[in-house]
Amino acid sequence: MQSLPLLSYFAQQAQAKLPADVWHYLQSDAGNGLQLQVNEAGWQSKKVCPRPLQPLHQPNTRCSIFGEQWAHPILLAPVAYQRLFHADGEIGTAVACNAQQGQMMVSSLASQAVSEIVMQAQQPLWFQLYWQGDRERTQALLHKAVAAGISAVVFTVDAPVKQALIDLPEGISAVNLAQPLAMRPLQTGQSTVFDGWMTQAPTWDDVAWLRQQVNLPLLLKGLMHVEDAQRAVECGCDGVVISNHGGRVLDSTPSVAAVLPTIVAAVGSQCKILVDSGVRSGQDVFKALAMGADAVCIGRPYIWGLAAEGAMGVAKVIRTLRDELEMTMALTGVSNLAELRQVEFFES
Ligand code: FNR
Repeated sequence: MQSLPLLSYFAQQAQAKLPADVWHYLQSDAGNGLQLQVNEAGWQSKKVCPRPLQPLHQPNTRCSIFGEQWAHPILLAPVAYQRLFHADGEIGTAVACNAQQGQMMVSSLASQAVSEIVMQAQQPLWFQLYWQGDRERTQALLHKAVAAGISAVVFTVDAPVKQALIDLPEGISAVNLAQPLAMRPLQTGQSTVFDGWMTQAPTWDDVAWLRQQVNLPLLLKGLMHVEDAQRAVECGCDGVVISNHGGRVLDSTPSVAAVLPTIVAAVGSQCKILVDSGVRSGQDVFKALAMGADAVCIGRPYIWGLAAEGAMGVAKVIRTLRDELEMTMALTGVSNLAELRQVEFFES
């Protein structure tokens, strides 16, 4: 019997079903759980005021991003190796998106072929690109995704140092990569970070290069500083995903809610602004939209659903967030996302 709210119930189920190392891989952050708390508290500290008695006019959550018409602004963030969590894997996530008119970003580290994932989807999916150490290998991965029929490229730039967070079990791998990115061999006395990983990390020159390679909408994921968002626009990017990678990379970063208003003020009229990290409810989605985000991504919560019930679990998570978003709109007298952006919110 389920007595908890659905997302908490799925988190509990996921923990019970997954091997301990997989659960730890999913939940871990860079700060012993503290960064996760900061991320979640950032959204929770914003408060909205009820506005009863307002008639709703053809209420809906529709939005349009890069010409794609979406029923709602909730996206599934890229999460690697989804077959670790359930045999349905990324294809299960795509099927859930079909059921709930959702959009997903397929990770560079997907555990199923991007062509097969895209084939199962009723709409073109977005592809999340990780730098592959050099332009040639990055281009090869990009070409594979474009050939599969993806409709946007999300270049994740906040995780250039790939720490091995889990030993993958037999049979699960990043099947879309020609070969996994390995750190170049070090000489005695050289450092793993400066002389190893960082020599293969992308720079702004590579963003400018990538812009020339991609004829689709291009977003940078993992920006938190307003000057970086401005630079992304200068490089011709169509959108940014304001994100601290769910707190998994750098400890002691601000929450996305803390940095979002400055970034919206600076570049909100020039590119699409998406957010993620710590979004745990439709109320959080509502607040992010009210603060100026065009769409909102979730990470861990849909993986809890995947681990608990496969594709069906992911669909239930999206439905729950949609219901909560709609309920928050109804209780604040808001009929659509344009009105939602005018809502005043309060600090707790
Ligand atoms: C991620 N994330 C991630 N991001 C990315 O760009 N490519 C990837 O392959 C992955 N893989 C990945 C694995 C796991 C297990 C997690 C939890 C996260 C980050 C993800 O896209 C997103 O930024 C965060 O998960 C958002 O934070 P919440 O919603 O999990 O708090």
